[in-house]
Amino acid sequence: MDAIKCIYSRVSTRDFNTREVSDEDVNDIVRAAMAAPVGMGRYTLKRITVMKNEEFLEKVTAACPQDPARRSSPFYGAKTVIIVSAETKETPDIEYADAACMVYAMALAARAKGIASVYLWGFLPAVRADKELLSALRLPEGYTPLSALAVGYTDEPLKEFDRPRHEIAVDTID
Ligand SMILES: Cc1cc2nc3c(=O)[nH]c(=O)nc-3n(C[C@H](O)[C@H](O)[C@H](O)COP(=O)(O)O)c2cc1C
Repeated sequence: MDAIKCIYSRVSTRDFNTREVSDEDVNDIVRAAMAAPVGMGRYTLKRITVMKNEEFLEKVTAACPQDPARRSSPFYGAKTVIIVSAETKETPDIEYADAACMVYAMALAARAKGIASVYLWGFLPAVRADKELLSALRLPEGYTPLSALAVGYTDEPLKEFDRPRHEIAVDTID
C-alpha cells in the first residue's frame, strides 16, 4: 500500500478481537512515533509506555465514567495500549501537539501493517486523577500522559480507501 492510500485507509477501530499484536510489530509501531515531528526537537522529554497489563486496563476501565457510546471499555477490547507522555511544565500546548503527531505516526504505521488502531484520549483524565494508576506508568517526575493509541485486530479485514472518508472546508487565499 502506498503512503497516500495508507493515510486514507486509517480508521478508528472500536471492536478489537482477542488477538494480540506481536512484540515485533509493537516495536515497529513505537518506532514510528520516533519519526514524528516534535516541537523544538524535545524528544528526550517524551515517554512511550506500551501497556499490556490486563489488570491496569481493567482498573482504568473501572475508574472511567460509564459511557454507553464506549460500550464495554474505553479500550474496546484492545490488549495493547500505547501511551504517550511528556514533561509538560514549560510548554504544555506544544506537548499535546507533539503527542498527537506521535500517536498519528503510530496509527499510520499500524495501518501499513494491517493492524487496527484507535486514538484514545477519553480514559486519560481517570489515570491522571488516580495516584495508583499514574504510578503504574512509572513516569519520571513532572511527566503527564497526554494521548494514547490502542492497537489490535478486528474480525473483519481492514478496508482500503482511495479518498478521505471525511470532509473539511478548505479556503485557498490567492
Ligand atoms: C485528540 C483525539 C482524541 C480522541 N479520543 C478518542 C477517544 O477517547 N475514544 C475514541 O473512541 N476515539 C477517540 N478519538 C478518535 C476520533 O473519534 C476519530 O478519529 C474521529 O471520529 C474520526 O474517525 P476515524 O478515525 O475513523 O477517521 C480521538 C481522536 C483524536 C484526534
